[in-house]
Amino acid sequence: ALRGVVALDGPSGTGKTTVARKLAGLLSAGYLDTGAMYRVVTLAVLRAGADPQDAEAVAALARAAEFTLGTDPSAPSVRLAGEDVAAEIRGAEVNHAVSPVSAVPQVRELLVARQREIIAAVLAEVGGIVVEGRDIGTVVVPGSPLKVYLTADPAVRAARRSAQDTAAGRQSSEAEALASVGRRDRLDSTRATSPLKPADDAVHLDTSELSVDQVLTALSELAGQRG
Ligand code: C5P
Repeated sequence: ALRGVVALDGPSGTGKTTVARKLAGLLSAGYLDTGAMYRVVTLAVLRAGADPQDAEAVAALARAAEFTLGTDPSAPSVRLAGEDVAAEIRGAEVNHAVSPVSAVPQVRELLVARQREIIAAVLAEVGGIVVEGRDIGTVVVPGSPLKVYLTADPAVRAARRSAQDTAAGRQSSEAEALASVGRRDRLDSTRATSPLKPADDAVHLDTSELSVDQVLTALSELAGQRG
């Protein structure tokens, strides 16, 4: 079983969520999807009718939002005021608004503190956790013994995102997905506070040509070496 934190960062469509959950299951560890936290706060902003670009309103709504995240990799629940919003936070509206919301420094401060609390609780309970996001290795857990930065060709990432959307019953085309992941990556990597970037000591893994099982094998080996 995994001891400590595996930090899994990278842009969208690299397979992060799929492999993070499977790796956590394999290693009998907990799982934290930090992207889901930025998404659930974004949903709260949209439901309140606020402008995602209005940093002050967004920060206030983030503080007021009552949300919970499950850390069981086989069923990671996401609730907003008690309601299951796991599907809704993956929709087009949230995809579009999540980057401006997550660029607000007060939102990041609040969520990073929550993330560290959840990580500490899971470590105390089960000893290990796989955490996925954009700034886990750089900001949230910079002392993590294993940091992995996943990448993939933009066209491959768009195809994966589009297939995921279709499987979940959402309208999608690869052209739209390419534009949408491209826009989000640009916003995420150019923001002032904790931009998307690899930690200096991260292991880079390009998943363009790899199956999920191949990525999992590579990650399990890395976790075994460093654990
Ligand atoms: O991983 P996912 O695609 O669900 O993340 C959604 C968005 O949340 C990202 O595009 C990014 O804007 C934000 N995010 C972040 N920091 C994290 C995780 C996600 O800014 N650690």
